[in-house]
Amino acid sequence: MNDITRSKILGSGRYVPERILTNADLEKIVDTTDEWILERSGIRERHIVEPGTPLSHLAAEASRIAIQDAGLKSEDIDVIILATVTGDMKFPATACFIQRLIGADNAAAFDVSAACSGFLYALQLADSLIRTGTYRHALVVGGEILTSMVNWEDRNTCVLFGDGAGAVVLGPSTDEAGILSTFLGSDGTYSDLLYNPGCGCINPPTVENVSEKLHTLRMEGREVFRHAVVAMSRAMKEALKRADLAVKDLDLVISHQANLRIIEALGKRLSLTEAQTYVNVDRYGNTSAASIPIAFDEARRDGRIGPGSLVGLVTFGAGFTWAGGVIRL
Ligand code: COA
Repeated sequence: MNDITRSKILGSGRYVPERILTNADLEKIVDTTDEWILERSGIRERHIVEPGTPLSHLAAEASRIAIQDAGLKSEDIDVIILATVTGDMKFPATACFIQRLIGADNAAAFDVSAACSGFLYALQLADSLIRTGTYRHALVVGGEILTSMVNWEDRNTCVLFGDGAGAVVLGPSTDEAGILSTFLGSDGTYSDLLYNPGCGCINPPTVENVSEKLHTLRMEGREVFRHAVVAMSRAMKEALKRADLAVKDLDLVISHQANLRIIEALGKRLSLTEAQTYVNVDRYGNTSAASIPIAFDEARRDGRIGPGSLVGLVTFGAGFTWAGGVIRL
């Protein structure tokens, strides 16, 4: 009989490339200024890969750290779920490359696509698989090399994104710690506000399509901003309701790090204190699916959260998709 009532995070890790692209560097690439980027987004710098770096390499680094942190070996991992929209190739799943790199020989491996919401989508899935007794140890990774999809001639978007990966290992909980709730939402009617039109079957890569830059990311920033604040505030409240908790109970809210003004507007809507708010967008930019696991690992290792802490997780991304969750460490 399966008597697992919840899963918990056993370990975490993160990895970002060494190379840093500052706002001053961007001033040399597009018509922008450090002042504009900082004022409109809160971003000072972002980590970026050397062109051609596989996402699986970043993700494998983060995964090794998370598995070691959990006190496990790669062979103990039963399933690898990678959230990404910038995998190594269209197929096979980049999770399979991670599996090979870390030697997780006993694991099933697949990718999840929900853009910036991807990590929480993958986390809910992994939590369900553990609670049903299907798997014992799940490696959940959020990784992105968005600089591979950015149009470096579009100042509206190219200043916002960075690269990186974060990972957690989930296993059955035998104490109070665990994933207390998760909540996912989507609305495909807004799919044309943030998307990558090329590379899929509608616009396969042709010389014409590539010269029209269809393989790069498109975004209506102002509209995305507006929806993000409303959807994230609702997602956090719904996740709290499902955990029978209130905003005041949370020690920290780790929201998707896309823009400091979005984080601040969310904080206002939820009446978060400064101590409850986590910000690292200034140093990483928007790393999409990697944003929450990178921030989570950083907050843990910096001592912002520790055993017993109640943490809210909330995100929003292309689709539109959104998600919330509450965990006890
Ligand atoms: N440098 C200088 N000027 C820029 C610029 C840049 N990098 N990017 C845009 N501008 C200009 C615009 O061209 C516009 O000029 P105009 O008024 O002459 O047309 C002006 O700045 C204002 O642009 P606007 O888009 O209204 O700015 P904004 O305050 O909405 O900020 C974003 C733009 C993209 C930073 C903001 O909308 C945002 O963060 N949106 C959400 C993005 C996001 O989170 N995406 C991922 C979600 S998962």
